[in-house]
Amino acid sequence: MSNTSLLICASQCWPGSPANSLSQQLAKQVLQRSGWRGRVLLALQGWRGGRALLTGLLQFSLPGIMAHYGWRKQHIVSWIEQQIEQQNTQQLVIVGAGFDGLGAMLSAKYRQLQVVEIDKVATINIKQDVLRQLHALRPNLCLKAADLGRCSLAQLLADTAEFSAERPTLMLAEGVLMYLPETAINNLLQQMRQSVNAPLQLVASQMQLDQHGKPRFSQQGWLADMALAISGERFVSGITPQALPGWLVNLGFNLQQLVPAEQPENNDPCPGELLFYATAKSVP
Ligand SMILES: C[S@@+](CC[C@H](N)C(=O)[O-])C[C@H]1O[C@@H](n2cnc3c(N)ncnc32)[C@H](O)[C@@H]1O
Repeated sequence: MSNTSLLICASQCWPGSPANSLSQQLAKQVLQRSGWRGRVLLALQGWRGGRALLTGLLQFSLPGIMAHYGWRKQHIVSWIEQQIEQQNTQQLVIVGAGFDGLGAMLSAKYRQLQVVEIDKVATINIKQDVLRQLHALRPNLCLKAADLGRCSLAQLLADTAEFSAERPTLMLAEGVLMYLPETAINNLLQQMRQSVNAPLQLVASQMQLDQHGKPRFSQQGWLADMALAISGERFVSGITPQALPGWLVNLGFNLQQLVPAEQPENNDPCPGELLFYATAKSVP
């Protein structure tokens, strides 16, 4: 199980996040069931001294990262809701969904929306148990366990009865592409296009390349480099903002919007991860 997923869970329970929201309940229970790493994080975030310790560690290694997750998720949810309410999006496929509560929340709010979440078996098993316990496993929420490094997304979706190629669809790859090499990203995005015969949108994030061509957050320190390397979660790919539109065109998508890191009263607290919205060109 990825350490980053657990850190994202801790950010969902952090004081200031909406109390008792589905995401917070899901995150707390996931941490409880995720072995010693999850329980340590839960204990630290639930105690003032522990939060100060964690904040100090993060301040030294990757300042602002917990708030960045909130910033990213807040943008994503408002964009997707807008697409559902105004653009007739009927299906949401979340690739590498982790323990995020977005799919459960949206499937409850929009009963006409079909949600398909995909992640590795260990993650899906825990999430399924917790959502069942929280009575949040709706009929329009389908959790699929798969290793996308070993199987094709197009085949997986074709074999998923709940998925329909004919529905206007939004695919979300949040915090996922940076762990894949360029060829795997090309395959993934091509398979997204092949899977859907209706309008297709992509919401994704990818690391920005620094001046040395390395994918990383602007404020990423050596401790974060080391932690990511030890947990096997080093960023292996990235892009510059200037290259993003052309890169997407080569993969069959047109960039709609790159979310600016600097916004009046809503700056990205930890810049370096590009969040963008794109639409698929139709498959010839
Ligand atoms: C950094 S987490 C992001 C989770 C979630 N999207 C979020 O932003 O809250 C990356 C997720 O991708 C999943 N993942 C990584 N490689 C995968 C693969 N080959 N197949 C399926 N899921 C994968 C991990 O298990 C993990 O849950």
